[in-house]
Amino acid sequence: MFDTIAALGHEQVVLCSDPGAAYRAIIALHSTRLGPAVGGTRLLAYASDELALLDALRLSRGMTYKSALAGLPFGGGKAVILRPAGAFDRAALLRAHGRAVESLGGRFVTGEDVGISAADLEHVRLETRHVAGLLGGAGDPAPFTARGVLRALEAAAAWRWGSADLRGRRVALQGCGAVGAQLAGALDRLGARLIVADPDATRLAAVTAQTGAEAVAPDEIRLVAADVFAPCALGAVLDDASIAGLRVELVVGAANNQLAEPRHAAELERRGILYVPDYVANAGGILSGAMDLLGLTRDEVERRINAIGDTVRHVLERARADGVTPAAAADRLAEERLARS
Ligand code: NAI
Repeated sequence: MFDTIAALGHEQVVLCSDPGAAYRAIIALHSTRLGPAVGGTRLLAYASDELALLDALRLSRGMTYKSALAGLPFGGGKAVILRPAGAFDRAALLRAHGRAVESLGGRFVTGEDVGISAADLEHVRLETRHVAGLLGGAGDPAPFTARGVLRALEAAAAWRWGSADLRGRRVALQGCGAVGAQLAGALDRLGARLIVADPDATRLAAVTAQTGAEAVAPDEIRLVAADVFAPCALGAVLDDASIAGLRVELVVGAANNQLAEPRHAAELERRGILYVPDYVANAGGILSGAMDLLGLTRDEVERRINAIGDTVRHVLERARADGVTPAAAADRLAEERLARS
């Protein structure tokens, strides 16, 4: 465990427990070099405690890089709450989490992530000030995230095909949740042709009804012949098996940690697939949190989200200049900012 933490470069990893509230969580602080470690809280059932730890470690590291590249004065952190097996008191669990966050004295500032809604954060807020994205503040980050993914997709399309116009482009969208549904709506309005998948039948039906998208089974979406694969569900979707089955030219999506392992970036490149690093494409969520945390206006946040397309171009130019994958180029740019601080 300590070797893993040292290899990923974390400052601190906190194991939290409050049996009375059925609360067990891991808070990983990767870096506070540029500012407080900012990152969402995820509430999920994990197959093992080790997998939960690995998720927290990888996600928090991703947040350091995401904020650095988005030009924000934040470090990187992440919390994962292990979803209790049986029935549980959600408010009590969330308040226990608030106390754990508060105990870190502002070194960690959290927000939504998978399994946590803006309404859930209100319970966390009862115990700590160190929460962003509350109702009445910036609120749900998903629309901002979706807009940023769209800007990243347009920039990648322009790089690959010489035009940012997505009309008629086939997009295979994995996940019709908060971000996926917003992205589907935006792509539909731009004239893209959508193929979508989600194990949640209600969410899937909402998106197909809204956009006329074709629905396929969750285990088929990665095999669909399309122009773009947009992962907007969980992480580690790009592994040896899935990359071998991909029939697209671009991979651009909101999901965090899309690469199962760093080496998969090279595997995508070898197969002629342009991969936009996840933390570049999905920075809209953290940028919307900056409304609360830095007092940025909505206009300023929207300007910065629209600039995600410029960041993608910058990353792709650097990748070409250095002869490395876009993922490696994005890491280099982020590390350079960290080193300058
Ligand atoms: P969500 O929980 O609202 O949606 C995820 C959706 O994926 C759910 O509808 C779920 O049923 C579906 N799903 C699960 N397994 C699937 C599978 N095998 N195939 C197809 N669909 C599947 O989460 P949200 O907020 O939309 O986030 C999506 C991803 O984007 C996550 O990885 C999250 O970490 C990331 N992200 C989200 C941000 C936000 O602003 N919400 C910001 C940055 C990243």
